[in-house]
Amino acid sequence: MQIIDDIQRMQKICLDLRREGRRIAFVPTMGYLHEGHLSLLREGRAQGDILVLSIFVNPTQFGANEDLDAYPRDFERDASLAREAGVDLLFYPTPATIYPPGYATYVNVEGLTETLCGASRPGHFRGVTTVVAKLFNIVQPHLALFGQKDFQQLAVIRRMTLDLNLPVEIAGMPIVREADGLAMSSRNVYLSADERAQALVLSRALAAARLLARDGVRDVPAILSTLRAMIAAQPAARIDYLQICHQLTLQEQFRVDADSVLLLAVFIGKTRLIDNGYLLSEAN
Ligand code: PAJ
Repeated sequence: MQIIDDIQRMQKICLDLRREGRRIAFVPTMGYLHEGHLSLLREGRAQGDILVLSIFVNPTQFGANEDLDAYPRDFERDASLAREAGVDLLFYPTPATIYPPGYATYVNVEGLTETLCGASRPGHFRGVTTVVAKLFNIVQPHLALFGQKDFQQLAVIRRMTLDLNLPVEIAGMPIVREADGLAMSSRNVYLSADERAQALVLSRALAAARLLARDGVRDVPAILSTLRAMIAAQPAARIDYLQICHQLTLQEQFRVDADSVLLLAVFIGKTRLIDNGYLLSEAN
């Protein structure tokens, strides 16, 4: 596995590999790797000749009061997990490399970014799409893999790729969970033992919504009020958003159908966690 921090070098290696006809699979991350990231790497390894991982805690996608400085980092551990996962090229640039002095260009997807996480975290998706577009230009992948854990992010990246005619196939991969249901996240390390127990309310709310929907309840306000009560019963929990949306438009629905996805963001203490899942479809 080669570790590369230089953009020109990375771009040249990738362009040469492409010219040789190798299929490049790419997994962009912010590091502190867990099973969710590793599932993307395994699929990338299976689908590509060359597997590229990037680790970059992207400052432009964090708000002024968010956890950029506290975001967990452990490069040595990540590098050894990456090696075990069969990564060929690990791109690990510094913020000053990605955003040198004078940097002034941003990619912004309209519409889809205005709700849910986009409404709670102004500027977040602009940072995500900007860095992902730059990484696509640097790595030149045939295929890029993203998790459905970040459902809105995946929708926004698909939109950007289509709108900007980027020659990259986007794969969306299922959410990987802990044995008790908590969706894996680098941010789970912020939770105390008590908060960790309360954090289960996200996956339990999702399971409860699925049961109601599969029992024939179609009325979205009725489902959401049941879930709100469940979440309110956890003293450390505070809802950021709780919505049932159409999987493609992310517009709120009033009746559950096969396109319905429950999306929720809940603060557990100071830690903001997200989760989501289809209610009727088996897709997630
Ligand atoms: P990060 O949070 O490190 O996640 C990297 C990728 O792993 C994303 O595609 C995310 O959806 C996926 N992922 C995270 N937890 C997962 C889980 N439990 N199951 C399945 N996939 C999971 O998302 C980002 O980084 C950044 O926004 C990035 C796209 C790298 C741009 O900076």
